[in-house]
Amino acid sequence: MTERVAHNQWSSRLVFMLASIGSAVGLGNIWKFPYITGEYGGGAFVLVYLVCIALIGIPVMMAEILLGRCARANPVVAFRSLVESKSRVWGGVGLMGVFAGFVILSFYSVVAGWALAYVVDALSGAFDGLDGKRSGALFSSLTGSPQRLLFWHTAFMLLTVAVVARGVRSGLERLVTLLMPLLFVLLALLVGYAMVAGEFARGFHYLFDIDFPRVFLQCSDDGACTFTAKPLLVAMGHAFFTLSLGMGAIMVYGSYMPRGASIAGSTVVIVIADTLVALMAGLAIFPLVFANGLEPGSGPGLVFVSLPIAFGAMPGGQLAGVLFFLLLVFAAWSSSISLMEPGVAWLSGNGGLSRVRATLILGGAAWLLGIGAALSFNLWSGEDYQFFGRTWFDLEDFLASNVLLPLGGLFTALFVGWVARRRSSENELAMRDSRLFGLWHFVIRYVAPAGIVLVFLNAIEVV
Ligand code: PHE
Repeated sequence: MTERVAHNQWSSRLVFMLASIGSAVGLGNIWKFPYITGEYGGGAFVLVYLVCIALIGIPVMMAEILLGRCARANPVVAFRSLVESKSRVWGGVGLMGVFAGFVILSFYSVVAGWALAYVVDALSGAFDGLDGKRSGALFSSLTGSPQRLLFWHTAFMLLTVAVVARGVRSGLERLVTLLMPLLFVLLALLVGYAMVAGEFARGFHYLFDIDFPRVFLQCSDDGACTFTAKPLLVAMGHAFFTLSLGMGAIMVYGSYMPRGASIAGSTVVIVIADTLVALMAGLAIFPLVFANGLEPGSGPGLVFVSLPIAFGAMPGGQLAGVLFFLLLVFAAWSSSISLMEPGVAWLSGNGGLSRVRATLILGGAAWLLGIGAALSFNLWSGEDYQFFGRTWFDLEDFLASNVLLPLGGLFTALFVGWVARRRSSENELAMRDSRLFGLWHFVIRYVAPAGIVLVFLNAIEVV
């Protein structure tokens, strides 16, 4: 069999997995998971998120990897090349993914910029002896300043563009191999600290006690309660977001995966690693939130307000703080690279642009869009700058995470379950147990699509 040399390939399955873990583990785990869990009331939300990961995330990730590796092409072409009719409709799914990645990148870069700013703050000793109030003030002084936000947003976007322009292989492999394990160790230490210094039991119960009414009932002042499906939609959207699914990132990485490596096995490892990091972040943060009188539902600043208090109080905290935010930047970096990769692979593979030019165009456009996200915390935070009842930042996040990614996942499942030949999937997955394959095929054909559609139908009123 001849392999097209022009298409990049990872040097081994391990590198594929590390890169995919690099893509999956990022701000989604450490920044977004704790703050939306706090916003939607804890345990029951976490449970729904875990169910979405298991029932939708795992099968869809396998589908994405197999599609990418089968076609050995970027998502737009992958969808097109695997249908006999050469229908353009499926290419549109790939394009939607490119668009979703671009929207996410624009606000992702702003939040990654916060982490960059916090590296400098930690270095300068700004966390020393912080209490809840002063930590909140430190964060507000950052988000209140358009200049600082734009500066760090620009810096992070440049970092991303610099790696993507050089090509995935040379840029990414070494970086990720080295730093992901380190982040893991540091998070474990933080959980340990939260056990000693925080209200650990309370944080633990908050994350894992299942209280459906608290999450799914919306009560007005006169005591009348109604069901709300919004937490359902957000939990499902986050399952896609955190696993980098529904927009082609894992698909492109899969297209660089060596043949013969197990797709199911890799998927399980990636998903477990990603979920562990999120839960550990939650276990590190909520005990500190409660111990310091912070509000779990206080929004996007949660991590940036709670952890510095810990760094300011623990022995060696200055070093730990610098390291933590630095590693968070690296985790975000390896994710933002994968946010760009589908678009760049497509523009440079089929759009006829050079890789560098494709990267500059996409990065530049995402940078522009991100300005709106940065201003959402200051100049554009008021009533006059609401878009569909949300700030620009919230609108981007909502549209991409809760609409575009699940839609992309839905079409991927439908494509693999109904359009692609069952035989090709079976060959590509090459699972030893044919019953396990049968189970996966059933889930990708019926369960995952039905689950996504049901959540969408329930959540219509949210939009
Ligand atoms: N999974 C990444 C995170 O959790 C974000 C991401 C989403 C990356 C979609 C690529 C594609 O931070």
